[in-house]
Amino acid sequence: MKHLLTVADLDRAAATELLDEAERFEQALLGREVKKLPTLRGRTVMTVFYENSTRTRVSFEVAGKWMSADVINVSASSSSVSKGESLRDTALTLHAAGADALIVRHPASGAAHQIARWMEQWAREENRQAPSIINAGDGTHQHPTQALLDALTLRQRLGDIEGKRVVLVGDILHSRVARSNVVLLDTLGAEVVLVAPRTLLPVGVDAWPCRVATSLDAELPGADAVMMLRVQAERMNGGFFPSAREYSINYGLSERRLALLDDDAVVLHPGPMLRGMEIASAVADSPKAAVLQQVSNGVHMRMAVLFRLLVGQEETV
Ligand code: CP
Repeated sequence: MKHLLTVADLDRAAATELLDEAERFEQALLGREVKKLPTLRGRTVMTVFYENSTRTRVSFEVAGKWMSADVINVSASSSSVSKGESLRDTALTLHAAGADALIVRHPASGAAHQIARWMEQWAREENRQAPSIINAGDGTHQHPTQALLDALTLRQRLGDIEGKRVVLVGDILHSRVARSNVVLLDTLGAEVVLVAPRTLLPVGVDAWPCRVATSLDAELPGADAVMMLRVQAERMNGGFFPSAREYSINYGLSERRLALLDDDAVVLHPGPMLRGMEIASAVADSPKAAVLQQVSNGVHMRMAVLFRLLVGQEETV
């Protein structure tokens, strides 16, 4: 595996291997006062984010640093992107400056794929090694490391993913997290249900490998996991239907709805959470919620991804 652009490139064996690798990293660091492995010493990892981020950017940085890589963060707003530099020139510049891996977040769907194509073309022409490109979220398309860390969290909480029913709730239309999770969970053998107002479902969703429903109350009993999604107002051009109040009443995970879940069910949210709208504070902070476990797993999963891309398939931790 040279790049990680979409979970569609992972079959069940490859995805499971990444989950196992992330757990090996977690074990390798467990109880250590100094969290430093020599695994990526001498490698340079750069993050380049054209959209804001807390969890993804920070966890990639921590992952790289815990493996002794040199990690450089580039934000579009404080780089020459703000002077008009193109995506291609920015990516080539960062590679020329020494990046072995470029971790890219961009508002345009397909941006990470395009960078990977440019890098491969450049590498062929120059007879050089292309850097690994990792998609850290491209528009509404894909967020592969998020789906992988979600799968890791589900596996840890539920024991296995095969045959489990996972209900994704909310703004499916704008969610790269939903698109990534539907594909990966299907690959791993889960039954996926989407619950959303019709206005927040994409055209063509009926062809996805999942079931679509509109009543959250009806889907919660018997679910093994419920994944709440953020309502992405920034992608709605100022319009939002249903209203925030209607949305909260019909699709918010309230304490009343939490009680409809089975005792062993788990609640996930990729963050950032809009407390009080899509999820009640008491639910987000309840023992059923795995939100902070998702964040911790994000570091171990991103260590696993960087390791596999930069060191290769044959090595283990
Ligand atoms: N889940 C997620 O991608 O969060 P950030 O936008 O904070 O990275």
